Amino acid sequence: MMQPWFTDAKLGIFIHWGSYAVGRRGGESWPIMNGEVAYDDYLKEMEHFTAESYDPVAWAGLFKRAGANYTVLTTKHHDGIALWPTRRDGPSIANQLPCGDLIGPYVEAVRAAGMKVGLYFSHTDWSNLDHFSVITGKSPKELRELRSQAVNYGQIKRAHQEAYDLSNDAEVHARWERFLDFHRGQIEEILTDYGPIDLIWFDVMMGRKGFGYPCRELREFIHGLCNSTVINSRLGEYGDYETPEQFIPVYPPEGAWELCITTNNTWSFTGREDNYKTPTMLIGMFCECLGMGGNMLLNVGPDKKGVIPSRQVALLEALGSWIRKHEEAVYGTIRGLPHGYAYHFSSLNKSRDTIFLYMAHTPNEATDIKGIRNGIKRISVLGHGAECAYERIGGAHWLNVPGVLSVKVPQEAFDESVTVLKIELDGALDLYGGKGVEIDVN
Ligand code: GLC
Repeated sequence: MMQPWFTDAKLGIFIHWGSYAVGRRGGESWPIMNGEVAYDDYLKEMEHFTAESYDPVAWAGLFKRAGANYTVLTTKHHDGIALWPTRRDGPSIANQLPCGDLIGPYVEAVRAAGMKVGLYFSHTDWSNLDHFSVITGKSPKELRELRSQAVNYGQIKRAHQEAYDLSNDAEVHARWERFLDFHRGQIEEILTDYGPIDLIWFDVMMGRKGFGYPCRELREFIHGLCNSTVINSRLGEYGDYETPEQFIPVYPPEGAWELCITTNNTWSFTGREDNYKTPTMLIGMFCECLGMGGNMLLNVGPDKKGVIPSRQVALLEALGSWIRKHEEAVYGTIRGLPHGYAYHFSSLNKSRDTIFLYMAHTPNEATDIKGIRNGIKRISVLGHGAECAYERIGGAHWLNVPGVLSVKVPQEAFDESVTVLKIELDGALDLYGGKGVEIDVN
């Protein structure tokens, strides 16, 4: 169920960690499905995963310094390998490797650091033979050929569906029921073994037409275990918030939402990490989310030992110091001026009498905001303190058409990434949304 902590939290950290962090191939789970590696060989690679430097307390400290209020760790990705000691019949790092349970220590450390605990769980399970996506009867080579003929994702999906044609399987319903029982059982384990979990982050429901997942029942089941658990949107229509991925929506989604995004090009450690975003890019994206009332779930991909790559650490630290400087314009804010009122994104405080304008670019002269009918109490640069001169240009206040609010920001007050203007109004924001009028009374 949606909770106020979620919409106020603004920043979360996503952690993609699993046996795929041995770093030999193209990232989490997908090499199996992309025909890059046979499933058995993929499973064998698990032996190289050691978690020998795993220090969830240090992770939690870093995430907290980055400004995060919640974190989400992959308990099981599409490869089906659990990071906790599952009692169900599936592969598990925790059961099979000396490192043991990786989820318990994480939950404890995140809670102790005062953050909300999130667990990622993939519906799709390529280790479970009752899950349709693995009953293909196709070799990786055949699958690769099928995929190579496809030119877009729709065709790739169709190719897979053909490969998963189960029409001759008399037991198909029984198998699917068996999978759903396993699936629910594992969800129950992660949501009960570690005390109440604040957020469950589901991922892709692959399967076959006509054999759906009981989404409504799952939601009720989860809330029967803990009424306050927030659920992301990847549960049919029964999630609490939208999860656009690697793309900030152009127009804000209607309700609560969260952008999940990588620091470079991959979710998990591959050993070939490059193409990193710069701190300024990430801060700019974060502000865009804030301006549209969303959260950002920023991903890290620790290696097989549990070490977070140093460039990811540096990005988190940079984001954290920007947030500390601009805290008032981050936590607990709500979506700001609609598109078209300013060149920049903005948010509002909850009483709607302060605008925070996120200036990702330095203007040549003044920065302009349209449509503000309110009187202005003060305009200053957040985290710096400098006051800004401003004037109203044009408009016809006697006809209630406000002039453009034109603000001059002192050069020395600009932040090296995103500068935040704090615009204090004389009351709750009152916006003009008209087309302007012919001024016949002067
Ligand atoms: C997609 C990918 C998956 C990744 C997830 C993160 O669903 O399949 O690999 O974990 O996005 O949002």
